[in-house]
Amino acid sequence: MTRFLKKKGCIIDKLNGEKMKERIKIFDTTLRDGEQSPGASLNVFEKLEIARQLAKLNVDIIEAGFPVSSPGQFEAVQRIADESDKIIAGLARAKEIDIKTAYEALRNGKNPRIHTFSSTSDFHIMGKFADSKYGATLAEKRSTIIKMSYDAVSYAKTFLNDVEFSAEDAGRTDTGYLCDVIEAAIEAGAMTINIPDTTGYTLPHEFGAKIAEIKKRVKNINKAVISIHCHNDLGLAVANSLAGIENGARQVECTINGIGERAGNASLEEIVMTLNVRKDACNYYTGIKVDELYNSSRMVSGFTGIIVQPNKAIVGENAFAHESGIHQDGMLKDKSTYEIMNPESVGVKKTKIVLGRHSGRHGLKSRLEELGYHLPEDKIQKVYDLFLELADKKKEVFDDDLRILMGDEIYKKKELFELEYLNITSGTETIPTATVRIKTGDKTFKESSIGDGPVDASFNAIERALGFKPALESYNVRSVTSGRQAMGEAIVRIRDGENSFSGRGVSTDIIEASAKAYLQAINQLYLFNHTALVFENDNLVIK
Ligand code: KIV
Ligand code: ZN
Repeated sequence: MTRFLKKKGCIIDKLNGEKMKERIKIFDTTLRDGEQSPGASLNVFEKLEIARQLAKLNVDIIEAGFPVSSPGQFEAVQRIADESDKIIAGLARAKEIDIKTAYEALRNGKNPRIHTFSSTSDFHIMGKFADSKYGATLAEKRSTIIKMSYDAVSYAKTFLNDVEFSAEDAGRTDTGYLCDVIEAAIEAGAMTINIPDTTGYTLPHEFGAKIAEIKKRVKNINKAVISIHCHNDLGLAVANSLAGIENGARQVECTINGIGERAGNASLEEIVMTLNVRKDACNYYTGIKVDELYNSSRMVSGFTGIIVQPNKAIVGENAFAHESGIHQDGMLKDKSTYEIMNPESVGVKKTKIVLGRHSGRHGLKSRLEELGYHLPEDKIQKVYDLFLELADKKKEVFDDDLRILMGDEIYKKKELFELEYLNITSGTETIPTATVRIKTGDKTFKESSIGDGPVDASFNAIERALGFKPALESYNVRSVTSGRQAMGEAIVRIRDGENSFSGRGVSTDIIEASAKAYLQAINQLYLFNHTALVFENDNLVIK
């Protein structure tokens, strides 16, 4: 007879003495929190492609965006929900308009989830809810938040059964009060309760104790799954997540490459591989197909333009490189001397296949598929033409060149302003001059300008052509692939009042990359200022 004994997150099979592991759900928020990383901006097609890769990686839930925040976010959530078999979450503040908009985006999906949240820490309550309409004292404001949380979940439940509630800044929230908020959210029907360490402030033992306390004190907690969502401001996001799991969380929110607000979120690949490599010490497992981790990392980096630091655990370029003679010698004798996991297990290939101008369409397509890209039939010729153009310039086309090509060219949507033509004259004894031709609808604008260098000249020419000079906040350029003919990437950030907008351009010519990036940032600014989501007679309209 088999008897089971439940004990602190693991079930022990008394008969054979083997520990049975518990499944941890992976909630990927690369497309929502990850996209909030400074400088990251993904178009709808790139998001769809990442969502497909996340499905291949076998995450349990994909948070696809924050539908009320922009028409682009709405469309991305809608298209991902329509297409995917995974649970797709849409974020919503505890406001009716947010919740209704999230539902509108998710409604035709197979497995939709509304993820609503309220702020719960005193810092947030006194900062964001300072207005006396929320109550005169902290105690009154706190009870308003409980009611708002209850009402938000109840309202979301009128649309969907699968509702998740997050207590924003739970890491710095008084635990007793946090328990009251959670109890109310579960009473209203929340099926998942997320405990975010929004500011990345807590230490692992504190965060673990908070989860244990919630499990102990919240009366109805067994009606919901406890989730955790840790930010990395002190570099503790993964450690805190593991402490949360150890103390009862069964869903973990994380992102590919750990991207996200400020210092980012807990890195998906680090959590998953810790549970995987340290099976001996962890009684938990995930459904992740770990050999898709590297491709996922490269795809997200290519599309967002956020480079992965070389020494990043699991997916960094140096994660499996052995530099010192002693280490190399040890590795040659026995890999286990310095390697705790095999690079192929996470999808790092031994050889980087190189393509060139003689590679055929079929070779290109199958290489792209191996890298995780799904190439619609109607795009094959375009990709192949762009590939040949690149192969002519570069001779050898590496995997990373293909990733850039897929991100920068194939999924680029039609912009309001398109750079049709750019001509630069520059040299040690010449005044840098740029001429641009910009197309918008059926109009074209052509202008020339000089500048303090070719980049400045091209930005000036763009400004003259559009009759508009935004404030430049930052400009960065770097190479994103290898070799002398490497692809250069430029990231430009511009400011308009309280809002800033970024653009990214990639080309083997860094001046062209810079001009493209500047124009893309201007496009973002125009899009932001000229569109809005509004309800008219109960129908959602994009203006
Ligand atoms: O960090 C945070 O608190 C969040 C919530 C919206 C879940 O991202
Ligand atoms: Zn977050």
